[in-house]
Amino acid sequence: MAEESVKETAMLAPTMRIYVAGHRGMVGAAIIRRLERSGFAHIVTRTHAELDLICQADVREFFRTEAIDYVVLAAARVGGIHANNTYPAEFIHTNLMIEANVIHEAWRAGVRRLLFLGSSCIYPKFAPQPMREEDLLTGILEPTNEPYAIAKIAGIKMCEAYNRQYGTCFRSVMPTNLYGPGDNYHLDNSHVIPAMLRKYHLARLAAAGEVEAIRRDEARYGAIPADIRAAIGLAPDSSRLVHDRPQVVLWGSGTPRREFLHVDDMAAACVHVMGLGQDVFAPPAPSFLNVGTGHDITIRETADLIAALVGFGGDTVFNPEQPDGTPRKLLSTDRITALGWQPRLSLQAGLADAYRWYLSPA
Ligand SMILES: NC(=O)c1ccc[n+]([C@@H]2O[C@H](COP(=O)([O-])OP(=O)(O)OC[C@H]3O[C@@H](n4cnc5c(N)ncnc54)[C@H](OP(=O)(O)O)[C@@H]3O)[C@@H](O)[C@H]2O)c1
Repeated sequence: MAEESVKETAMLAPTMRIYVAGHRGMVGAAIIRRLERSGFAHIVTRTHAELDLICQADVREFFRTEAIDYVVLAAARVGGIHANNTYPAEFIHTNLMIEANVIHEAWRAGVRRLLFLGSSCIYPKFAPQPMREEDLLTGILEPTNEPYAIAKIAGIKMCEAYNRQYGTCFRSVMPTNLYGPGDNYHLDNSHVIPAMLRKYHLARLAAAGEVEAIRRDEARYGAIPADIRAAIGLAPDSSRLVHDRPQVVLWGSGTPRREFLHVDDMAAACVHVMGLGQDVFAPPAPSFLNVGTGHDITIRETADLIAALVGFGGDTVFNPEQPDGTPRKLLSTDRITALGWQPRLSLQAGLADAYRWYLSPA
């Protein structure tokens, strides 16, 4: 007990055994990089193939044998609007199962500290902007990703319930839109920034007639959908260019405002939050913190930044027949900034870093 209260005051120490669930994902990998840079030498990982987190018996056995001090739960079924719309059952089932298994089995094995990664989509569709932690469960959710959001809300509430009943130190972070090294560039299910970076990159290659480079890009980052082929003038079999006026076509009007955070800043925020005392999260305070930049930018401005970064001087066309989504989505970051964290990378510097990674050898 005396030892436990000493540990409670030192919420995070480099000697701890930290299990990062989802370490091969964009966020998990960034958290590992951050922990390693900060001298943490006992980081425990399992690939999805080694440990399927939807299998309770396997998760129980893992925690029984590994003597974990701190869990970072960054494993999840994640995707853009298209994937959320197409696989709603998978999104709610996988995420609920992962959370229930990891949170419950961590507690059962005596783990007192856990950081759960949620998402800004937990907030109501019509929440006032910027969205504060107190806005959770004050209105209806955006229907397209409701199953995913419900699962994430369940994760927050599980952490709160275990804290209340068992005195654990479980807390959560709600990131805004993230981007950076390790992002998903598959054009069927990627988020705004990776989709734009790749579209502009392909258009620049097409403008320079670099068909061979386009084929290498396709081999690495996945098939190029028919509408993007048509826009950049690439033949259906990727063998040649069929016109010389490549364009980038983007969904909607370009006017919605979005917030973007580089994943290395997110990882720094996670480590910062892991080190906070549990008093910060004691009721009635929310058990979670928003993580964002506190600034938003229009989709059109984002596109201009990326076009300039990639070096594409051709046309960008906005297709107003495609949906815009909500006009504005911005997190209030007052709480986390008052607790001593703030992002370091500007959007320009962060985008340049993401593009460097995109171009780096596989
Ligand atoms: N990316 C964003 O913009 C963003 C924004 C807000 C919140 N977040 C949150 O941040 C967290 C991490 O997101 P991310 O972008 O890093 O996602 P990601 O790149 O897709 O990584 C998720 C990881 O979870 C693993 N995983 C999925 N199902 C699993 C299972 N059943 N058992 C074991 N491992 C499993 C995946 O492994 P496999 O690939 O092998 O399946 C992958 O390594 C998520 O909770 C997400 O909601 C992300």
